[in-house]
Amino acid sequence: MTQEEEKVRATHIPFGDQRDAPFYGRDIVSVRQFTDDDLTYIFDVAHEMQQMVARIGAFDLLKGKLLANLFYEPSTRTSSSFTAAMERLGGSVIPINEVTYSSVSKGESLPDTVRSLEAYADVIVLRHPEKGATALAAQYTKKPIINAGDGVGEHPTQALLDLFTILEELGEVDGLTVTMVGDLKYGRTVHSLARLLSRYDVTLNYVSPDILRMPESIVAEIENGGTPQIVHTNLDDVIADSDVVYVTRVQKERFENPADYDAVSGAYVITPETMKVAKDRMALLHPLPRVNEISIDVDDDPRAAYFRQMEYGMYVRMALLALVLGKA
Ligand code: CP
Repeated sequence: MTQEEEKVRATHIPFGDQRDAPFYGRDIVSVRQFTDDDLTYIFDVAHEMQQMVARIGAFDLLKGKLLANLFYEPSTRTSSSFTAAMERLGGSVIPINEVTYSSVSKGESLPDTVRSLEAYADVIVLRHPEKGATALAAQYTKKPIINAGDGVGEHPTQALLDLFTILEELGEVDGLTVTMVGDLKYGRTVHSLARLLSRYDVTLNYVSPDILRMPESIVAEIENGGTPQIVHTNLDDVIADSDVVYVTRVQKERFENPADYDAVSGAYVITPETMKVAKDRMALLHPLPRVNEISIDVDDDPRAAYFRQMEYGMYVRMALLALVLGKA
């Protein structure tokens, strides 16, 4: 936040909020904004949330607070886990999950929409089809805004929960080989996760069809930090050496030419046969939704962590809401 923004926000601190809390009033736009200490702090709070939910289910940390859930693109997990997170913390939600039924359908701009919502809500969660939309919206609201996916840009809260999942499932990140599979071009989750993992001592394998490779700009950014990145087209080349296999859906909605999608949509499918080759101790992740990239026959494999990954997401989002609202 700039000094000017901090000054503006400082005049809007409601009674009872902790203005010295490290995340108070901050926007969450990109994983690039986090320090190592931030990550440790977020995960510590997420663990506390996990324990509290296990012990008492819900509590009143955010009682009286309102979240505006503004989704211009479809969502099941991100939208409902932010709702669940807010409600388990005693707060309430304004759901705008289908902008067709909001004034967006009358031509209202994103800046006007977030300016309007800030009049009612204490925090805004935004999913939008355009890269950079959250950064733009953040310029027009004094309330904290959280990026829930901006087109092919980033999905920072997903990357945080993915990292939290790796820590929960495998106990460490340093020393791991993480293999990302599928649509690395349009998959915003892998864009954020690769950036986040590059802070650690990891090797990144990128397995995709040629037309869906990790964008060069992200590869170059990560290369500057010295993280090894190896490009493959064949999953068989790396599955046996991978500690984490992170599978993504080919994003049909981002293709201009349906024939291009048809040519690559079934390129990689994880089956029980695939898992026979994988390490005994590894984690198979997927941000979901899946289409056909992981066979349902794999779901009962203890290494298949994608449904646990969803649950971890709620604890991480509880932590983020509490932090940006100055209550953790
Ligand atoms: N992982 C994820 O972003 O899922 P949704 O599209 O269902 O929110």
